[in-house]
Amino acid sequence: MNEKQRAGEEAANYVQNGMIVGLGTGSTVYWTILEIARMVKEGLDIKGIATSTNTEILARENGIPLLSLEEVSSIDLTIDGADELTEDLTLIKGGGGALLREKIIAYHSTHMIVVADSNKFVKKLGTFPLPVEIVPFGYLKTINALKKFGCQTAIRKKDGSFYVTDNGNYIVDCQFGEIDYPSTLHDNLNQVPGVVDNGLFIGYAAKAIIGQESTITYVEK
Ligand code: 5RP
Repeated sequence: MNEKQRAGEEAANYVQNGMIVGLGTGSTVYWTILEIARMVKEGLDIKGIATSTNTEILARENGIPLLSLEEVSSIDLTIDGADELTEDLTLIKGGGGALLREKIIAYHSTHMIVVADSNKFVKKLGTFPLPVEIVPFGYLKTINALKKFGCQTAIRKKDGSFYVTDNGNYIVDCQFGEIDYPSTLHDNLNQVPGVVDNGLFIGYAAKAIIGQESTITYVEK
């Protein structure tokens, strides 16, 4: 079993009958979703809230009943992946382009569990370029403003065209190198007009389940 599968499947054990469950996006939480689907077939009664169109399709195909965010008053537990995480459970997310919906859903969740393979667990964030979601209007100006924070920028592309998020926006991947002050950077980036949000998730996750070759590491706050 690979690390992603080990972490992903383990997280499904935290899902209990009657819960509203935020379903993250990516190749690690993929395994969580399949495991939850298996549990649903065996009688588990939950409703999922998808963080992306891809996850919505995966969940529906596998028989997990879904609700929209508007239909629930709160979410009991969200399980999602990360591109990098540190000991204090600060995360970089958005490698899969779903950071905005992921953050909205994490914000409205009572608990968030992160699932990741061991490569994602780092001393300091920033090796992975920080994804920043920006609106298309004035995007070159927005990118120039982002550069002033000391990063190298690359607008994300897919099949030769700009990658477009589920929200109709672009993603700029910002390479900062080591991020010393994630909270300050988060707030500064989000103050640039045209920036919708960035992939720093601070204070959301209470637990991380990190898959390793033959074991699992748990990081808790
Ligand atoms: C999507 C994300 C993913 O959770 C993140 O990219 C991790 O993905 P994976 O589990 O495939 O490594 O933030 O926007």
